[in-house]
Amino acid sequence: MADRVVTAFAPATVSNVACGFDVLGFALEAPGDEVSARFVEGGREPFSSEASPKRAPVPLPLVRIDDITGDDGRLPREAARNTAGVAAQALLTSLGERRGVALSICKGLPLSSGLGGSAASAAAAVVAVDALLDAHAPVETLITCALEGERLGAGSAHADNIAPALCGGFVLVRRASPPDIIRLPVPAGLTAVVVHPDLEIETSRARAMLGDTVPLADAIRQWANLGALVHGLHRADFALIARALEDTIAEPRRASLVPGLSAIKRAAVEAGALGCSLSGSGPSLFALCRDAHTAATVAAAMTTAVRAEVGGDPQTYISSIAPQGARIVSPCAS
Ligand code: HSE
Repeated sequence: MADRVVTAFAPATVSNVACGFDVLGFALEAPGDEVSARFVEGGREPFSSEASPKRAPVPLPLVRIDDITGDDGRLPREAARNTAGVAAQALLTSLGERRGVALSICKGLPLSSGLGGSAASAAAAVVAVDALLDAHAPVETLITCALEGERLGAGSAHADNIAPALCGGFVLVRRASPPDIIRLPVPAGLTAVVVHPDLEIETSRARAMLGDTVPLADAIRQWANLGALVHGLHRADFALIARALEDTIAEPRRASLVPGLSAIKRAAVEAGALGCSLSGSGPSLFALCRDAHTAATVAAAMTTAVRAEVGGDPQTYISSIAPQGARIVSPCAS
């Protein structure tokens, strides 16, 4: 049993989706993060020796991190400072488990990209540990535990990346805790384009730009758009979806984070996108398109605009809304 290794993949996610700050998100097919879990001899003694000599966090009693690839050595190796480590420990605690677990993380998502990287690692960790234990925990438990990783990574336990990373599809978070997640229908053909400019934005910094209050007129417009988007998804009404893809709350306050944001959005819509907005807290931008053919045109236009406005080497993804979220896979090669 000690040699058994279970690996889970969790996909990139687009959160907010323009009018659904902290409450809407959808999953992409790829890229994503992978987390492998295996049993190890547990207890505080062997794990506490891993703590960094400076400002050592309180070690997690049952989780350690063996290895992280794909992050250029930038993510914390101490489990107590790592989103996957904290999420895994939350699940072990909630299940009353006493065995120790070691994690290996293969980062497929760029850091601080707005693609839900911390959520993907946390989601993959809870799915891998759940399978290792044969626990079959309810998805609400997995969401609650993965949210602890998100709280560490983003400074806030919002579920608009965690829920689609675990459940797949296009979801509405009616409430994060305890989770009340509503799966929305996805019209045939709906295709996402995501362009990641060569920039990094910490979610905690982007959230600090929002302040605590919004003008009532902006809130009214936002919830009208949110209702319209949900209705448009149910009716497969692309014209209504297009009208609803507007953010009056978060994006205006974060616009300075992405040079040329309005020009990039304009390029997407002129190329045929239904709408375009920041993916999560940015810097990535997403566009929704009525079909894959349009998405290819939009992806080219957005990539050109991002190169012109931001410079650097953007990464571009075209994906359907992935129906499946985090799942058990064979481990990645790296
Ligand atoms: N809803 C979150 C935000 C997503 O916009 O801050 C980023 O994690």
